[in-house]
Amino acid sequence: MSEHEHAETTATTDESTSEQLVELAKRRGYFFQSSGAYGGVGGFYTFGPQGASLKGNVEDAWRDRFAVAEGNMEIDAPTIMPEPVFEASGHLDGFDDMLVECPECGESHRADHVVEDNTEYEDAESLPIPEVEEVIAEHQLVCPSCGAGLAGQAVEAFNLMFATNIGPGDSQPGYLRPETAQGIFVEFPRLKEYARNQLPFGVTQIGRAYRNEISPRRSIIRTREFTQAELEYFVDPEEDEPELEAVEDVAVTLYPASEQNKDDGDEIETTIGDAVEEGIIASPWVAYFLGVAKPWYDAIGVDMDRFRFRQHLSGERAHYASDCWDAESEIDGNWIEMAGFAYRGDYDLSKHAEHSGDRFTVFKQYDEPKTVERATVDPDMSYLGPEFGGDAQAVVAELESLAGRDRSAFDGDTVAIELDGETHELPVEKTGFSVEEQTEAGEHIVPHVVEPSFGVDRLVYTVLHHAYREDEVDGEERTYLDLEPEVAPTFVGVFPLQNDAELEAQANEVVADLRDAGLSITYDDSGNIGRRYRRQDEVGTPFCVTVDYETIEDEETTVTVRERDTTDQKRLPVEGLAETLAEIREGDLEFDEL
Ligand code: GAP
Repeated sequence: MSEHEHAETTATTDESTSEQLVELAKRRGYFFQSSGAYGGVGGFYTFGPQGASLKGNVEDAWRDRFAVAEGNMEIDAPTIMPEPVFEASGHLDGFDDMLVECPECGESHRADHVVEDNTEYEDAESLPIPEVEEVIAEHQLVCPSCGAGLAGQAVEAFNLMFATNIGPGDSQPGYLRPETAQGIFVEFPRLKEYARNQLPFGVTQIGRAYRNEISPRRSIIRTREFTQAELEYFVDPEEDEPELEAVEDVAVTLYPASEQNKDDGDEIETTIGDAVEEGIIASPWVAYFLGVAKPWYDAIGVDMDRFRFRQHLSGERAHYASDCWDAESEIDGNWIEMAGFAYRGDYDLSKHAEHSGDRFTVFKQYDEPKTVERATVDPDMSYLGPEFGGDAQAVVAELESLAGRDRSAFDGDTVAIELDGETHELPVEKTGFSVEEQTEAGEHIVPHVVEPSFGVDRLVYTVLHHAYREDEVDGEERTYLDLEPEVAPTFVGVFPLQNDAELEAQANEVVADLRDAGLSITYDDSGNIGRRYRRQDEVGTPFCVTVDYETIEDEETTVTVRERDTTDQKRLPVEGLAETLAEIREGDLEFDEL
């Protein structure tokens, strides 16, 4: 049992927590603004030794759950992609934020944020630009940096993609990907082969995404370079169904669009199964992944009392999504989006098929071959050639397409086709039109996509924020991070009690033993023992092991093991220590059972 006095622990949730966390993150090596030696640049952060390790552990936990446990494939695609990819995906035309520039200080701001922060509008992003300009003028809104009036300033659509040139010169424009998803979609024709053309299948990717945010803010919550962990799950919309039974009892807090639109709307406490049955979540696939995600967030340390799923309002949805639910965490009284679960339908694959000419379909075999009537054409080229010259092949393509979609167009003596906006009449007898019976083994379908898309940086921030604790130990104030062992950067800190060669040698043996067992260990022999404990508490190390004189003098070699949260200490034999701690890390054993 601990001989330490322990005052009540508080998990503070006021604004100061973020300030203290950001300060702790810098001091202890979690994260800090990049390129500090050159004054820093907004929206770019470096994860220090602790942060890189925590982030890596979060990514590993995500990979275990969303790739390995679900049987999905993982890929690693380039972060720069050529312009046609983003013409097809819609990002070139539609991936914009609203920008307003201050006429006095020249600072750029997100116009929708200026509106939301200073008026009753909650979803200004969904308003058309002229309306945002009107709201700014009507409410006499001012520049958040210098206070100058913004009324009358033009609001512009600002594309968030970072542009670059591929190779020397500017012959091939490219962009840094704004979402990892496109790296998966463009490789679909090959990926479907690896999945043996069998739906459903999923492809995951963990990697960097880039957005030239107008006003990056709140440290790593809104940055210009960040990490996403995305799953693109390809399904046959008519036949495939998720294994909803596996998650139907998962309890969730939902905030559907219908409730957000009411004056007295509220969050709903329900289960995944009931939410699907009552039509609150329209897509069982989206519901399935919400059900997988909730316990996963819990396991890695997101506080479930500060967690909910919120449905996007119709004007808020991205250009590709027909429905979307965000996983949100509460930070300092505000909700932040940690992940989006979108139903993207066939939008992406259809667009890439249209723009690339490649096959973004899967062949779906019928249970029994079907006999179907097919309308075909076999045009008389000795007529089309002289009549249409270089456009003859385009006419053939148009006739084939028309026969497929509207065979009644060939009912009369002539058939009308559209070519470059002009209508042409052709004699039907020259088109070789016929309807034949064909036996078909299956059809080519465009799969639909369900997309759980996680932002790793925001998740790391939430995990740290929700783990932040202040208490008093032996009359002294203490700050510690109550991190889950699965994600904590270091699992055990090992110390020799004093600078003594014998103690140090023994402590190094303990370090080697624990590292052999696959545990992440830090060795610290600087400063007094109390300060070493505080240092490990502050970075969230769950256990500390101290080697003292009893260790080397007693017959049985024992050490003191101290638990971070309670500061309880126990004397344990070195023999078997690695196995005991490994069991605790796996969640198979509790410290107070020892
Ligand atoms: N492929 C879908 C997609 O990219 P998104 O909602 O735009 O969807 C997914 O992004 C997640 O990426 C968000 O939920 C958020 O966690 C993270 N994210 C987006 N923009 C970010 C930014 N500027 N800084 C940090 N994280 C960001």
